[in-house]
Amino acid sequence: MSRSDWDQFFSREFSEERIKKYFYKFKYGTAPIYAAEEFLPPTGVIYDLGCGEGVFCKFLRWKSPSRQVVGIDLSENRIEKARRRSEGGGIKYAVSDIAELNEENIADAVSIVHVLYLLPVEKQKRLFIACNKALKMNGRLVILSLDAGEAGTKSILEAFFFALRVGGGLFRSAAKLLSLFHIGKPIAEETDVIFGHRENKPYYQRERAYIDYLSAIGFRLEKRELLRGTPFTYFVHQYVKEGNGR
Ligand SMILES: C[S@@+](CC[C@H](N)C(=O)[O-])C[C@H]1O[C@@H](n2cnc3c(N)ncnc32)[C@H](O)[C@@H]1O
Repeated sequence: MSRSDWDQFFSREFSEERIKKYFYKFKYGTAPIYAAEEFLPPTGVIYDLGCGEGVFCKFLRWKSPSRQVVGIDLSENRIEKARRRSEGGGIKYAVSDIAELNEENIADAVSIVHVLYLLPVEKQKRLFIACNKALKMNGRLVILSLDAGEAGTKSILEAFFFALRVGGGLFRSAAKLLSLFHIGKPIAEETDVIFGHRENKPYYQRERAYIDYLSAIGFRLEKRELLRGTPFTYFVHQYVKEGNGR
């Protein structure tokens, strides 16, 4: 698997959605997304948690059609788009809170890509215990996230979220004002989803914190890849379930 596979998939996937293409190009192009795919098994049942619009789910199947993929996200709107993009033919979607996942011994692998920063640390821990329960013994957990321990990454993130808080606040107020005149109601609803539900507060942790926590609940780190200076630092970890979490 190489970057060129990803580029090929990408050009095809977004051939008619120019703006989205640039957004995803930045989001995925700065992260080691191709390693995340490689760290997942080529067959079996894979749960992609916080799947958004299902781009990664579709990519997983495109790379290996014998994978059965289940994408789960809290946002009805995104799941609806994901269904339009790729439901059927080995991919299923569901709307649900991933921290409340309550499956036992059914997944060969679980992926969590660009999601952890949205969940308060205690909720991340609940999620990992739920992943442990859902995985079969020796199943794989793959997480991709920013490393908040990197000095450059940390200051860029702080600046970014400061801008988001100020800009988002102004944008939400303007949208609320518009909603008084009805025409702005859908805009206000959408901006509330984007800027409102997480108080613009990210919950990034150091890479080390994940290794420590996951090894304490029955996972062993097997593979790891870093991508530095894009301008952030991202890591991908592959863990093997070797025991039952508590
Ligand atoms: C930045 S997007 C990443 C989407 C996708 N994994 C990707 O890489 O394109 C984060 C996603 O996590 C979802 N999310 C956040 N908290 C969640 C929760 N508690 N349960 C389910 N989904 C959640 C959001 O709705 C959003 O679609």
